[in-house]
Amino acid sequence: MQNNRRGFLRWLALGFGSVAGLLPAFTQRRSARVIAQTPEAEFIKVATVEDLADGPFKVENAFGDNTPTLWLSGDPEDEDSLLALDAACPHAGCDVNWRGENYVCPCHGSAFAADGSRTRGPANADLTSYEVKIEDGAILVAKT
Ligand code: FES
Repeated sequence: MQNNRRGFLRWLALGFGSVAGLLPAFTQRRSARVIAQTPEAEFIKVATVEDLADGPFKVENAFGDNTPTLWLSGDPEDEDSLLALDAACPHAGCDVNWRGENYVCPCHGSAFAADGSRTRGPANADLTSYEVKIEDGAILVAKT
């Protein structure tokens, strides 16, 4: 009887020990997941406010080699008016061109307003926009 009780208590202690040993692992996994869901945006200088003087302008490989081409536009005196749009058409990825009043895709004819919203298909989504800001005369875009 005593052996059964000792065995049971040993089994109970091992069980609690195992569960307690796993708790830090669960805690660490939860922390890593939270960090992964809220990444800090890294802002990259892609142009200067002087570049905005003549309307929308294109910046190829905005974040380095083989990175997105962006169209930047807005009033250099009004940071809230700035737009950084990914030139890649959401239909099949061709780079859209600025046509004076809107963006037009050369591949299949999709069109987008100056704010990147879709006005004609076959694309079924707006152009992707990036967070943008001005610091010391530089235009910085959030690399995602
Ligand atoms: Fe732009 Fe097809 S890739 S319309």
